[in-house]
Amino acid sequence: MRAPGRGRVPSLLHRTDTMGQYQKHVFVCTSGKTCTAQDSATTFTVLRDAVKEAGLQQQVRVNHAGCMAQCGHGPMVVVYPEDTWYDGVTADAARRIAQEHLVGGRVVDDLRYVAPPGDNKLPKDQRPGETG
Ligand code: FES
Repeated sequence: MRAPGRGRVPSLLHRTDTMGQYQKHVFVCTSGKTCTAQDSATTFTVLRDAVKEAGLQQQVRVNHAGCMAQCGHGPMVVVYPEDTWYDGVTADAARRIAQEHLVGGRVVDDLRYVAPPGDNKLPKDQRPGETG
C-alpha cells in the first residue's frame, strides 16, 4: 500500500546505470576490533594518499568502514563496483592495490580474498586483538 500523497519510488534493484558519484568506491575496515589491531589505519592512509597522488579523488573514493564479518583476515578492503575483496592488506599490499587496481584498472589477483559468501570470522582465539 502506497502512502497517500507520495509518488512511486523507483526500485534501485532494477537500475541499469550502475555507480553514482564515483567510478570506484573503496571501503577499508577501520573500526572493527581485529582489523584495527592489524593496522588498518595505515592501509586506509596508503590507499587514500595514493588516490590523491594519482589525482583521482573525483573518480575514486576511499572510505572508512566498520566490521565486514571477516575478522582475523584483515586488514580487509573491498572495491566496488567490481565487488573485489582483499585480505591481509599491509601497507605494501595497499600500494599495489592502489597502483594496479585503482589506477591501472586491473584486479590484483594474488591479493584477492576468496571465501564463501557471508560471515567468515576466524575463531576468537585466532583473531589479533581479540583473545578469549
Ligand atoms: S574487524 Fe575487520 S572484518 Fe571484522
